[in-house]
Amino acid sequence: MVLVLGIETSCDETAAAIARGPGENGVDVVSSVVASQDELHARFGGIVPEVASRRHIEMIVPVVREAMTRASVSWDDLDGIAATTGPGLIGSLVVGLSTAKAIAQARRLPLAGVHHLEGHIYSAAIGRRLPLPLLALIASGGHSHLVLVRDHGRYEVLGRTRDDAPGEAFEKAGRLLGLPYPGGPRLAALADSYRGRLEPMPQARIAESWDFSFSGVKTHLARHVRGRQLGDDERASLAAAFQESVALALAEKTVRAAEEIGGLPILLVGGVARNRRLRALMEERAFSAGLRVNTAAPEYCTDNGAMIAAAGIYRLHLRAAETAELDCAANLPLRDWAGPDSS
Ligand code: KG4
Ligand code: ZN
Repeated sequence: MVLVLGIETSCDETAAAIARGPGENGVDVVSSVVASQDELHARFGGIVPEVASRRHIEMIVPVVREAMTRASVSWDDLDGIAATTGPGLIGSLVVGLSTAKAIAQARRLPLAGVHHLEGHIYSAAIGRRLPLPLLALIASGGHSHLVLVRDHGRYEVLGRTRDDAPGEAFEKAGRLLGLPYPGGPRLAALADSYRGRLEPMPQARIAESWDFSFSGVKTHLARHVRGRQLGDDERASLAAAFQESVALALAEKTVRAAEEIGGLPILLVGGVARNRRLRALMEERAFSAGLRVNTAAPEYCTDNGAMIAAAGIYRLHLRAAETAELDCAANLPLRDWAGPDSS
């Protein structure tokens, strides 16, 4: 078992966590601190990259210190450091990775670079072992990826979004309905409050591909609301219809893919995996197909340091640490780091 500090700064959360593993129950989180920048970006109605990186610089040291204090550990107790190397906002990534490198260098600790999507996958290894092999749906603000995880560090991307990511679509739909930033969780809450009849909006069907598309449903909503004053009930009904369409598209395709590749267990992770309707629909569809669904706890679905620590724990456990040349990239592809015999 190793004790690892995980650092995540790919977008607008400055996050650090201390976690221990791997054990019988996967990874144990000892502390997890997330400093959200939501309030800062709210007045712009979206994330401003330059503002995000400046705030990361202000917050990274206090957030790491807080994670260490809450875990009651000292630098000497750590066995390694993990940090997100991409994809994400480059100015934000640099802050987290430089901090991780500085600590690793000063304390002579091994360093693991973690792909952000890999971090989301390992959010489900917190509290239990990953049921490998599996099919992961990573639904977030920046991604909608179907990834076949054959083993630790062995990934195959089967499908992705062709336009908006689902979280991005939720954000845009929230704006169209006049909801304040961040629109995603607010739209979900409004949708869940609706008790009337529900008609899902038309959704794009991309045949012979595991790709997704969410721009059609967003355009449908935009056309519907353009130039109109919406009453509260109509706003809630549109929110519910939008949520239903996105959740259905994600659940149907994921379950079909899992069936087709041999009935693999499904992993539902990423910020949009917090969505209660999506979780329920995925369970329902998977149950009908005789498949199992694993989800991360809601607090580990949105960006956090614990998922990066969890991925780093397996990486450091199964493979040598990275060198000081480790770099970050805004468009980092998800690559294998392990061979077929890694475990
Ligand atoms: O994984 P995450 O924290 O960041 C990225 O890697 O992108 O995901 C953030 C996204 C945001 O777009 C947010 O609107 C969405 O997750 N989100 C939700 C809910 N909670 C967060 N979308 C739908 N329903 C929710 N309850
Ligand atoms: Zn994320």
